[in-house]
Amino acid sequence: MISAIIAAAGSGERFGASIPKALIQLGDRTLIEHSVASLSSVADQIIVTAPAGYEEKFRTLLGNTVTVVTGGATRSESVRLGLAQVLCDVDFVLVHDAARALATPALAQRVVDALVAGDAAVIPGLAETDTVKVIDAEGFVTSTPDRGALRRVQTPQGFTYGALQAAHALGADATDDAALVESIGKKVRIIEGEERALKITTPSDLATALSFLGDATKFSTGVGVDAHHFQEGRELWLAGLHWPNETGVEGHSDGDVAAHAICDALFAATGLGDLGSNFGTSRPEYAGAPGTTLLKETLSLITKSGYSISHVSVQVIGNKPKIGARRKEAIAALSEALGGADVALLATTTDGMGLTGEGKGIAAIASALVLKK
Ligand code: CTP
Ligand code: MG
Repeated sequence: MISAIIAAAGSGERFGASIPKALIQLGDRTLIEHSVASLSSVADQIIVTAPAGYEEKFRTLLGNTVTVVTGGATRSESVRLGLAQVLCDVDFVLVHDAARALATPALAQRVVDALVAGDAAVIPGLAETDTVKVIDAEGFVTSTPDRGALRRVQTPQGFTYGALQAAHALGADATDDAALVESIGKKVRIIEGEERALKITTPSDLATALSFLGDATKFSTGVGVDAHHFQEGRELWLAGLHWPNETGVEGHSDGDVAAHAICDALFAATGLGDLGSNFGTSRPEYAGAPGTTLLKETLSLITKSGYSISHVSVQVIGNKPKIGARRKEAIAALSEALGGADVALLATTTDGMGLTGEGKGIAAIASALVLKK
């Protein structure tokens, strides 16, 4: 049986945020959620040490498969408080920093593999690329260790329960658990670490971590424009809403320029053609189709190709109708058709100039930001 302790009780003083470091957002989740995901496929039990006062917040975030305990004044003390909670039939314990949010499950598995192969203590490390100096209190160099023999060590660090328990029994303090295990004379094995398991200490480390996430997520943008001529006797549909007592526009579908511009922006961002190639006159089933239906169809096409929507923005250009009073309602209708996506809706006139300024019709311009994992 394998237990994991995640040290997350620090305040993150060097990071300088107003919330504990483990609750800082990295991409789509907090650091603590990332670090639980790093270990959940490998460990049978996960114990998280939370800063005092944040225990309930952590429980809500992590769910009831994770045991949350209050941490201590130092990292070593926090680990000891976590160690008191491990189940009695545990063989190995992994100790991990919440701050190393992007360590992969594969790294945790390699640590466990080495423990299973017989080592009592296993820690990931990377070769040192800088020359490191040892200095004295006056700031003078006293020696230059051989760089080839140095490693920058990371977590998760893995131990037999017996070794970790014995190392912590003395109640000493160190910046990692391996140091305590070394101090009781046990051998500590180094395995190859990961650049992405970096410790997030400052805001610039968070930016580096984001770039690791960026490797797996590709963002792209697209722009779409549509315009339709007014036509007496047609109902007006715009931005997913019916506008009673307003003049409608001509068109193959319902002529909702805002919806159509969004569809084209989404097609542009995903490289999946355009409104015409997907729903054009060669597809009679879309004749008179509501804009929201085309939005739903577009969403389904881009989703099938692996894209999801980060944000959509559309601006209606025309003298009428006045959008302001129904903006919220329209945003809700567009967002619902797009599976709950974040939508912004704006409107403008063109100061009496050009197509819509002459009062001949309505136009819209949209942009979309999409991502593909
Ligand atoms: N940690 C802990 N209990 C403490 C101090 C630190 O559980 N009393 C945890 C931190 O939450 C972090 C890990 O140990 O995940 C490594 O510590 P560090 O990166 O130094 O985080 P902080 O102590 O929060 O940051 P700082 O030193 O800048 O305040
Ligand atoms: Mg600290």
